[in-house]
Amino acid sequence: MIRRAVVEGVGHDLPDRIVANSHFEATLDTTDEWIRSRSGIERRHFAAEGQTTADLATNAARAALAQSGLTAADIDGVIVATSTPDLTFPAVATMVQTNLGMTRGYAFDVQAVCAGFIYALTTANALIVSGQAERLLIIGAETFSRIMDWTDRSTCVLFGDGAGALILGAAEGEGTNTDRGILSSDLNSDGRYREMLYVDGGVSTTGTAGKLRMQGNPLFRQAIGKLASTAEAALEKAGLGAADVDWIVPHQANIRIIAGTAKKLGLPMERVIVTVQDHGNTSAASIPLALSVGVADGRIRQGELVLSEAIGGGLAWGAILLRW
Ligand code: UT7
Repeated sequence: MIRRAVVEGVGHDLPDRIVANSHFEATLDTTDEWIRSRSGIERRHFAAEGQTTADLATNAARAALAQSGLTAADIDGVIVATSTPDLTFPAVATMVQTNLGMTRGYAFDVQAVCAGFIYALTTANALIVSGQAERLLIIGAETFSRIMDWTDRSTCVLFGDGAGALILGAAEGEGTNTDRGILSSDLNSDGRYREMLYVDGGVSTTGTAGKLRMQGNPLFRQAIGKLASTAEAALEKAGLGAADVDWIVPHQANIRIIAGTAKKLGLPMERVIVTVQDHGNTSAASIPLALSVGVADGRIRQGELVLSEAIGGGLAWGAILLRW
C-alpha cells in the first residue's frame, strides 16, 4: 500500500460581469470574428471594482468545501497558484485561510503563471505523500484584468478573471496506475524564453505592478510541441498511454493550441473539456475552473483518468495525471 493524494472536492467562482468580444470593437481595431477565429474566446468575466483575487479564491474554496462535505477545520493547508495577488505580500493563501476561519495549518502562494496550478498540485501531492499533510486546499485564482494594457489589442482581448479550487486528501492506494489520486506529474521551465510572456513591472524594478506583454505567435509556435511532450512524459511516468486518458483538461489559452495538442496526442476533441469560449485565458485558474465545470455537468466521474497540461510565462510548463 502507498499513500496517494485523492480529489475530495472541486468548486469555482467567476465574477458576475460578463464581457462579450463585441465590447472591444468600440475602443480597439478588432472584431468579434478575429477574436473567435484566432483564439476561440467568445466572452470572459471581469472582476468588479474592489473585488480581489483573494475574494474569488475564497468563494471557489467555499464551493469546493461544500461539494466535498468537509469544513475548513478539516484542512491542513492552503496553496494558491496566482500571478495577480492582492498585495506583494502576504500570500493570497493566508487571506483565504483567514476568510475561511482557519486558525491552524499553513498557507502559501505558488507563482508559475499559467502553469501555476500544475506546480501547485505537484507541490500538494508531495506534501501529502510524504506525510506532511492529510488534506490540502489547492486554488488557482487570478484577476488578469488588473494587468491588462487596454490599448494593446493583441493581449487585452484574451484574458479573464476567475478561480477554481480542489481539495486533495490522503488515501491508501495499491501503488498501481489504477489507484485514484495523482499518479504522476512533469514540470519544466526555461527562462531563456522570458520575453515571450512577461509583466513589465515589479517590486525590485519599477516599483509598480506593470502590464502584461506577450509575443503571441512565437509562443503559439512553442506551445503545442511542449504541451504534447510534457503530457507524454507524465503518461510514461505512470506507465500509461494517451489511449488510456478519459479527459484532457488543458490550460485554456487558445482553442487552436488545445485542439493541436489533443491531435498530437491522438485524442479526439470529444475527450477534451473546453471552457475557453466562456472564460478566456484565466491563467492559473483555467484548469481548476475547467475541472469544476466538467464535474458539475457530469462529464468527469470518479475513477476516470484526467490529464491536465499548461504552458505560460517563464516559460514554465507541465502536466499532471490523476485518476478522479
Ligand atoms: O496562457 C499563456 C500562454 N498563452 C498562449 O499560449 C497564447 C499563445 N498565442 C496565441 O494564442 C495566438 O498567437 C494569438 C491568439 C495571441 C494570436 O494569434 P495568431 O494567429 O498567432 O496571430 P498573430 O499574432 O500572428 O497576428 C496576426 C495578425 C497581426 O496582424 P499582421 O501583422 O498580420 O498585419 C496582428 O497585428 O492579427 C493582428 N492582431 C489582431 N487583429 C485584430 C493581433 N491582435 C488582434 C486583434 N484583432 N485583437
